[in-house]
Amino acid sequence: MRFSIRTFGCQMNVYDSDRIRDILLAAGHEPAAKPGEVGDLFVLNTCSVREKPRQKVLSAIAQARAANPRVIVVVAGCVAQLEPEALLDVGADVVVGPDRYPGLPELVGSARQEGPARLTGADEVPSFLMASPDTMSERGAVSCFVPIQKGCDNWCAFCVVPAARGREHTRPLGEILEEGRRFLDAGARELFLLGQNVNSVKLPGGFPGLLEAVAALPGVLRVRFTTSHPRDCSPELARAMGTLPAVMPWLHLPVQSGSDRILESMGRGYTRTHYLELIDTFRREVPGIAFTTDVIVGFPGETDADFEDTVELVSRVGFEGMYSFMYSPRPGTRAATYPDPVPGPVAAARLTRLQGLHEAQVPRLLARYVGETAEVLVEGASARESGHASGRNPQNVVVNFELPGKMEPAALRGALARVLVTEVRTHTLFGRLV
Ligand code: SAM
Ligand code: SF4
Ligand code: F3S
Repeated sequence: MRFSIRTFGCQMNVYDSDRIRDILLAAGHEPAAKPGEVGDLFVLNTCSVREKPRQKVLSAIAQARAANPRVIVVVAGCVAQLEPEALLDVGADVVVGPDRYPGLPELVGSARQEGPARLTGADEVPSFLMASPDTMSERGAVSCFVPIQKGCDNWCAFCVVPAARGREHTRPLGEILEEGRRFLDAGARELFLLGQNVNSVKLPGGFPGLLEAVAALPGVLRVRFTTSHPRDCSPELARAMGTLPAVMPWLHLPVQSGSDRILESMGRGYTRTHYLELIDTFRREVPGIAFTTDVIVGFPGETDADFEDTVELVSRVGFEGMYSFMYSPRPGTRAATYPDPVPGPVAAARLTRLQGLHEAQVPRLLARYVGETAEVLVEGASARESGHASGRNPQNVVVNFELPGKMEPAALRGALARVLVTEVRTHTLFGRLV
């Protein structure tokens, strides 16, 4: 069958969609001919972290059916794990949870012969998928995700991820390094380690030890990771980042709120003072570091004063990137039972104000790169500027740049280019090869 995959949600889902692709290719299916085509087998890899991405699943199923009434619709990911029956009711043919992807070809076969099929629930013996060397080499991405743990044991009051992804498990070190090697052999230059709380991996030497091992893999130019939880993020991590040249000076450190009262009721396990001290530690240990974050506004009980604490923290730290969301109640989470909901229009106004503040800050923050020669790991042609190349600086900011004469952007893919940054353009930088 010809298949296509549509992915919602976080980097873990992006990684999983690639492995679903490996599994379908190995079972003899072929990708749909054109991008955007649903094909005969349409896989939706779903996210339940907020209500909006969840709603998109329902409309995507209907669209796929409209495009090809005989299509087999597979729903994978977090919505599949959390509400399989509801998905079968709205017309999914196969519902498969994140721990069950190796069973997908069989489920598809049974759906074709016997009608709707589902396989969800956790692995009895937790196992991780592994990129297949047979199906990945043609892709040769410059930066590749490598999961180092799955699940989450934190149960933050707002979050559905522990219910969707199960208990936290650390991937065995040998598997992490093996998958890293496979990606590097296939042309990757950057390894991007993934977990919901990377600093709590259970490995000798902890997360800093893992960074050291990954940074020592032959051929790796850069190592990045996400997500760090402020409660578990340690000064040892800051020192490791400061001393391992391959580990890039960029930290995504979701704060969620700047108010101690709200952090407490979210169950995050740190205070704003602790968070700000961490920022200082990383600034001291990691020269030139950039920070990005996630913020939730309108959490139950959030007062104007709580929100002002968040505004103050965001303006004080100066995040070069920020994902901010209006709180979305998730069934089964503690916060869904909390009193004092913030009225929608109040939360929306707070979000607009916070985003406005951040948008105004970004060009000022990125101005620090103008005039410097940055090392840019080139990913290929720029999506925004035709004929230009694009990549990222060490701090993970996109840099688009001009090339001399008739040089093709593809020729630089995977290379470290030296680029003189001349301008800030919204959230990106612009420059020329030196
Ligand atoms: N493990 C990461 C951490 O602890 O920071 C976060 C993972 S979560 C998939 C990504 C982001 O989604 C969170 O940092 C949070 O800001 C946001 N998020 C999670 N649940 C949410 C909810 N119920 N409403 C709004 N935003 C939410
Ligand atoms: Fe969700 Fe908290 Fe786990 Fe992050 S640490 S995935 S926010 S429960
Ligand atoms: Fe990721 Fe969304 Fe699941 S953020 S872990 S795909 S709920």
